[in-house]
Amino acid sequence: MLNIGVIGFGYWGPNLVRNFVSNEKCSVKMVADKNPERLKLVKKLYPSVNAVSGEDKIIGNPGIDAVIIATPISTHYALAKKALLAGKHVLVEKPITNSKKHAIELVRLARKYKKILLVDHIFLYHGAVNKIKELIDKGDIGEIEYFDSIRVNLGLFQQDSSVIWDLAVHDLSILDYLINEKVKSVIATGISHTKNSIENIAYLTLKFKSNRIAHINSSWTSPVKIRQILIGGTKKMIVYNDVEPTEKIKVYDTGYTMQREKALVDYRIGDVYIPKFDQSEALANLTKDFIRSILTGASPVSNGERALTIINILEGAQASIKANGKEVFLHENAEHK
Ligand SMILES: NC(=O)c1ccc[n+]([C@@H]2O[C@H](COP(=O)([O-])OP(=O)(O)OC[C@H]3O[C@@H](n4cnc5c(N)ncnc54)[C@H](O)[C@@H]3O)[C@@H](O)[C@H]2O)c1
Repeated sequence: MLNIGVIGFGYWGPNLVRNFVSNEKCSVKMVADKNPERLKLVKKLYPSVNAVSGEDKIIGNPGIDAVIIATPISTHYALAKKALLAGKHVLVEKPITNSKKHAIELVRLARKYKKILLVDHIFLYHGAVNKIKELIDKGDIGEIEYFDSIRVNLGLFQQDSSVIWDLAVHDLSILDYLINEKVKSVIATGISHTKNSIENIAYLTLKFKSNRIAHINSSWTSPVKIRQILIGGTKKMIVYNDVEPTEKIKVYDTGYTMQREKALVDYRIGDVYIPKFDQSEALANLTKDFIRSILTGASPVSNGERALTIINILEGAQASIKANGKEVFLHENAEHK
C-alpha cells in the first residue's frame, strides 16, 4: 500500500484526491493547503486524512511514498525538487515548470534518485485521444498533414502564467503524443488585455521537418467554450470535439488527390463514422499509471521527458511572442540547454 500526500486543494487538487482515495493500491494520508478554508473542506470530505497547512509536513514525513503537487505553476519547480530530494515519487500538475531549465533539472533529479516523475498531461489518459492514436498508429488516417486546434472559453485569468502555459500545453501534449515527429520551429503571436502583460490570447504555428503543420488557438476571452481539434491525414480526416458529450470523434473518409497531368485537385467525400472509445475517467487512468509505475519501476506514459518536450515548445513560443512572431527554431534534443 503506497502512502500519498497531496499539496494543493484548490480547484484541481480535489479531483486528484478523489481519484487516489478510490484506488485500492494507495492511501491518501495527508493533504496540505495554505488556505485554512480549503483545509476545513478536506476535513469535512475526508475525516481520516491529516489536513496540514505546510508542504514540509508532507515532504519531511518518512511515511509518505509519493507527493502530488496541485499548486499554481510558479510553485511546481521548488516543491517537486524538494520532494525528489527527499526521496519521494512525484506527480506534478501541468505544466511541469515555467521554464525549460527547471524542467531539465527535475527530469535529471528523478533519473538520479530513480524516482517516478509523472506530469498530469491528462489528455494522454483520455479514451478519445487514445482512440485517435490507435487509428493513426494503425495507418487508417494515412500520413498526418495538419493538426489544427482551438481551445477557447471565458477562462480564469492566471496570475503567474500566460494562456499558452495554461491551455496550449494541452494541445501540445496531444500533438506530441499523436505525431511521431518533433516540432522544428514555432511562430507565435499573442496579446495581453490586462495590466500585467500576461497574454490572454495566443496563436501558435508549429513547423516540422516533414511537410506537416500544426496550429493552436488559445484564449481565456471567448464567449463560448470550444475544444476542437482537426487532424488531416492523406487517407482520412478526424474532428475531435471534446465538448460533445458522447460523439466526440468523427472520422471523415474525405480526401483529395492531385491529377497527374494537370495541376488540378480531385476531391473524395465519403462516409463519416463515429468510433466508440473507452469512457473511463482520464484521471483514474492516470492514477493507475502513477501507482503501476512506482510499483514496477516502468516509465509512466506522461513522464518527465515528455513534459520537457512540451516545455521546450512553450518556451520557444513565449520567445516568439516576445519577438513579435519571429520564427524560433527548437533544438531537437529538449534537454539541450
Ligand atoms: N490537468 C488539468 O486538466 C488541470 C486542470 C486545472 C488545473 N490544472 C493545474 O493544477 C494546478 C493548480 O491549479 P488550480 O486551478 O487548482 O489552482 P488553485 O489556485 O485553485 O489551487 C491551488 C491551491 O494550492 C494552494 N497552495 C499554493 N501553494 C501552496 C503550498 N506551498 N503549500 C500548500 N498549499 C499551497 C493554494 O492555497 C490553493 O488552494 C496548476 O498547475 C494548473 O495548471 C490542471
